[in-house]
Amino acid sequence: MGSIEEPNFCQKNKDLDYDVLIIGAGLSGIYSLYRMRQLGLRTKVLEAGGGVGGTWYWNRYPGARFDSESYSYNFSFSQEVLDEWNWSEHFASQPETLRYCEFVCDKFDLRRDMQFDTRVTAAHFQDDTKSWLVTDENGQKYTSRFVVTCIGILNNYTLPNIPGVLDYKGEAFHTARWPAEQVDFTNKRVAVIGTGATAIQVIQEVSKTVGHLTVFQRTPNWSLPLRNAPLTTEEMDKIRSRYPEIFRKCAESWHCFMHVPDKRSTFDLSPEDREAFWEELYAQRGFAKWMSNFGDINTSKEANALFSEFVANKIRGRVHDPVTAEILIPKCHGFGTKRVPMETRYFEAYNQPNVRLVDVKSNPIECVTESGIRTKDEAFEFDMIVYATGFDAVTGSFTAIDFRGVDGVKLKDRWSEGPRTFLGLFVESFPNMMMVMGPHQMFGNIPRSVEYAASWVARFIEFCRDRGITFAGATRQSVLDWTEHVHTCAVGLLANDVDSWMTGVNKNLAHKQKRIIARYQGPAPGYRKRAEEVVTREYRDLAERFLVQDEWGKEQFSLDGLPGAWIPYGGGGFMCTGRHFAKQEILGSVAIFQSYYKLEMVDRPKGWLPRPDRRFYGVGAMPPAEPIPFRIRRRRRGI
Ligand SMILES: Cc1cc2nc3c(=O)[nH]c(=O)nc-3n(C[C@H](O)[C@H](O)[C@H](O)COP(=O)(O)OP(=O)(O)OC[C@H]3O[C@@H](n4cnc5c(N)ncnc54)[C@H](O)[C@@H]3O)c2cc1C
Ligand SMILES: NC(=O)c1ccc[n+]([C@@H]2O[C@H](COP(=O)([O-])OP(=O)(O)OC[C@H]3O[C@@H](n4cnc5c(N)ncnc54)[C@H](OP(=O)(O)O)[C@@H]3O)[C@@H](O)[C@H]2O)c1
Repeated sequence: MGSIEEPNFCQKNKDLDYDVLIIGAGLSGIYSLYRMRQLGLRTKVLEAGGGVGGTWYWNRYPGARFDSESYSYNFSFSQEVLDEWNWSEHFASQPETLRYCEFVCDKFDLRRDMQFDTRVTAAHFQDDTKSWLVTDENGQKYTSRFVVTCIGILNNYTLPNIPGVLDYKGEAFHTARWPAEQVDFTNKRVAVIGTGATAIQVIQEVSKTVGHLTVFQRTPNWSLPLRNAPLTTEEMDKIRSRYPEIFRKCAESWHCFMHVPDKRSTFDLSPEDREAFWEELYAQRGFAKWMSNFGDINTSKEANALFSEFVANKIRGRVHDPVTAEILIPKCHGFGTKRVPMETRYFEAYNQPNVRLVDVKSNPIECVTESGIRTKDEAFEFDMIVYATGFDAVTGSFTAIDFRGVDGVKLKDRWSEGPRTFLGLFVESFPNMMMVMGPHQMFGNIPRSVEYAASWVARFIEFCRDRGITFAGATRQSVLDWTEHVHTCAVGLLANDVDSWMTGVNKNLAHKQKRIIARYQGPAPGYRKRAEEVVTREYRDLAERFLVQDEWGKEQFSLDGLPGAWIPYGGGGFMCTGRHFAKQEILGSVAIFQSYYKLEMVDRPKGWLPRPDRRFYGVGAMPPAEPIPFRIRRRRRGI
């Protein structure tokens, strides 16, 4: 429990191993550690992998690369890094991106505070010490005041729920756990299951050297040419001089990409002009074709159908066999309703005699056998099976850890009906825990969101450090309000009518069959505006809002002078009773509350003594049998 008189945050953590424990050493963990260093806090990163990079450490499959422009993906926080790092391609490959992550870590000597090969299995909030107890898979324990999760939205991979997957005796790989050693495809009969963004990259690459490739497709995807190209030193220098403009564009854009959206409607143009505009877009690099398109292709079924047909015709023009072309054209979802995979000669791969497409919808896979795959109609023999079957996305990394908050509440129970968060950063009953790239944050071009979220968290921890606040978390009301806002932002977007990892569906997982709102889908500038307002209000949303609903409506009380009765509640929260409150409510974030208000005891219950070491009566003490009447007084600002 923080106290105003004793602001030495680190001193209060002296019995704990760390001030801040970060889980994960991908981009989120790297930047979070950098910021914690700047605050002078004792910080440790625990990482399951053998090195830094997260996504770029694990996904070493052939063809893995960005769909974000390399120079809009990289960190913006260090001018030195921007000056020193050169990208060799507009859309860098996985090995180069991994080298970039390592370069940043070396530059700031970050590995010194990182512990690899350490998978966290449990994180339990300790009500008595207001701290976290984190356990790794070897049983090693770590205590920390704050936990910052940087565990990724696309990290926990899933194998297909096809019988016999473990019976197969040949080489088998999931793309997200690809070995570091070179894998050879020459003269081999290779199967790829899946046709998402990962599979598309694998297929177009493997088809260059494979003996024979069979692709098992359940759902086709709208895929567009990436138009990657090498970058010369001169081009890179020009890009470097444009970094401020690139990051400004990303900051202004809805999804944090550098592409400027077209404000017109699809129907503002004649069919001829529209076609000409789409041809221009189609010729551009990367996501321009999606992000610089008319916004209504994301909201209007009619507009979406027109652009989908434009893309379908491109596919028909590239795939020689019309039957194969039609199987490759999505019929059940419109363009852009799932994250659009970018490709380079993907469709042309199907023109090769040694590449075959199997439509799993009409010819379902029955099982994986010891030597291959059996479908309803055919038995296939393979030397290698590649599973490009996706992830237990967004919430998977969280449910893989036994997270328990105040009073032992389980995170998976808190989120049983889908994620409920405040700003995608906090979860009710999980004080002192913040999520970088948690659910309900902005996704899109992810490093822009990572930098913002990690910076928000750092500023908040700095606020706590400076005031000696050692207990802080979201209130129920703030979580309800934010979750409602996230759901409101999702209304009307066609993407929410489609099963995908972005709507929380993974057909291989029994508990992920229902669509949820997993991400913030309003404009990124709108997200940041709201998050900045919380900062401007000096985080009072984390303390005050929960106090201000009465039982007759939603009237807001001024707290000053309000009588009430407060009962210390396990975990540092408080329950509030009294005529102004509909029912007993658990109040989180008392420490922040306390920096704005003080409680004056009205009648001291018999035998009840304030603890001399604590300004806030009763905290940490056994709850008294009777509520203690208090009067709430506003403190002067600035204390
Ligand atoms: C193949 C692929 C390509 C992508 N391309 C792009 C792109 O072009 N543009 C874009 O914006 N985004 C892209 N993404 C999304 C990508 O995940 C993010 O851009 C970014 O790398 C996320 O960084 P992160 O640190 O938040 O998460 P991650 O990179 O996923 O890192 C999370 C880390 O946490 C660790 N971890 C998780 N659980 C535990 C645990 N229990 N104990 C210890 N450690 C744990 C993991 O091992 C991992 O290292 C891509 C994703 C994939 C899979
Ligand atoms: N930068 C890039 O270019 C890039 C590259 C790779 C990944 N990513 C990111 O990572 C995300 C995830 O991509 P991903 O391709 O790894 O996963 P994904 O989009 O979830 O695709 C998984 C694929 O596997 C198929 N599949 C899963 N289980 C199956 C089963 N039992 N039987 C048959 N098919 C099955 C799916 O079919 P259904 O659709 O029918 O379920 C789908 O085609 C992307 O959306 C993107 O954000 C980016």
